Amino acid sequence: MPPYNFLGFKLKSPIWVASQCPMNPHTQEQHVELFRNYLKNGAALVKTQMISNLRHRNGTPRNRARVTFFENEGKPIGFCNLAPIYESMAYLDEGLTLIQKLKALKVPVVANIAVHHRYFRDTHIWMSLAERVVEAEADVIEVNLSCPNLKANMQVPGQDYGLTVGIVKELKRKLNGIPIIVKFTPDMNLARLEKFTRGVINAGVDGITVVNSPAAIAPPDIYNRGKPKFLGVNKYTYTAVHGPINIYLAYRFVTRIYQIMREMKKEIELTATGGINRPEQIVELMMLGASSVELSSAILLQGYQFIRKCNRFLDDFMTKQGYKSYRAVRGLSHRYIADWEQVKFKKVKARIDYSKCTDCGACTRSLCLAWKKVGNKVLVDEEKCSGCGFCKLVCPVGARIVEEVD
Ligand SMILES: Cc1cc2nc3c(=O)[nH]c(=O)nc-3n(C[C@H](O)[C@H](O)[C@H](O)COP(=O)(O)O)c2cc1C
Ligand code: SF4
Ligand code: SF4
Repeated sequence: MPPYNFLGFKLKSPIWVASQCPMNPHTQEQHVELFRNYLKNGAALVKTQMISNLRHRNGTPRNRARVTFFENEGKPIGFCNLAPIYESMAYLDEGLTLIQKLKALKVPVVANIAVHHRYFRDTHIWMSLAERVVEAEADVIEVNLSCPNLKANMQVPGQDYGLTVGIVKELKRKLNGIPIIVKFTPDMNLARLEKFTRGVINAGVDGITVVNSPAAIAPPDIYNRGKPKFLGVNKYTYTAVHGPINIYLAYRFVTRIYQIMREMKKEIELTATGGINRPEQIVELMMLGASSVELSSAILLQGYQFIRKCNRFLDDFMTKQGYKSYRAVRGLSHRYIADWEQVKFKKVKARIDYSKCTDCGACTRSLCLAWKKVGNKVLVDEEKCSGCGFCKLVCPVGARIVEEVD
């Protein structure tokens, strides 16, 4: 694979593991061993879990987490993680020693930092936390403004424009050349995303990670009078949702940020995270504008060999498709993404392959009205068919063919 230039660091690949708080009590050695396994499986750098400005109080329990899945026909498409955040984050001293230990792994160390919700409007506290992690020799700082479990009045710091831009400006001014990345919250609309992106780029940010997990509420147990599905709790709350269902957020945020970068003629690191659970999604995100990608839920759902699988896929894809650099892939789809007025529709029609059709009728039982039945046989009414392609998704045996007509 071609080497990847990450903010001046030469990496083996543009793939690594996202910032993740461990879910169990652990020793720091165990945590470092986990990072070692990520690297052995092809992760190109290490990102710490969120490091906070707090100090641990004796007796506070650590890393309790309970998980509930969002399911579709028995398959997990996401999961909510009920984890008391002040138990899961790294307290300051732990975070600093973690960085020092990770330095021994000889890859860039990105420190993910987050300030306790009581103080998060105070830029000075963000500054002093950042200074401490730089003293511990973190190579890059990722400002976590977006942890959905770390909120005040349902708000995360990354929803406050002045605070977000102010923190980036101050960090860039005081931290003498240390690259600064901000990690955005998905809990904002596209108009706000544009404002925030322009703001942080103008403030000199080096990279954006999109996106953190959205805040969600886990589904209740309908066979147990609406109680939580989480085991061993009396109540539950809004928590982060991770997993494959987040992928649309990654597509959306990456695409819009890349458009804005191009309009501003500024090229920054744009790391995609959120829902990546198939290697193909890495290339999709790159074509939509990501320069690098990080895996999170996939590591929990598929194990850390998934990093190796992604690197292999990317390597193979680049060679077979004839791409010599990641730059050649980045943003490729943008020539096809436009405003509504520029979208032209060509004629597309559906037909049925009767050698496969079992007359099950599935394609006649939805919003499509472009069908008729002659005897038992389903026919497509050509006049009415708009070519939307939905029947292709609905047909269980692949008998629906939808194709461009000219
Ligand atoms: C167990 C767990 C812990 C996480 N801890 C952090 C964290 O400390 N800092 C952070 O910025 N993001 C954290 N995240 C969010 C991930 O970095 C990532 O942005 C998010 O999970 C979206 O990707 P996914 O949908 O593939 O899970 C955590 C995610 C998980 C699953
Ligand atoms: S392509 Fe769309 S409109 Fe045409 S038959 Fe299929 S579902 Fe109906
Ligand atoms: S869904 Fe497929 S198999 Fe069933 S009637 Fe329609 S075309 Fe035939």
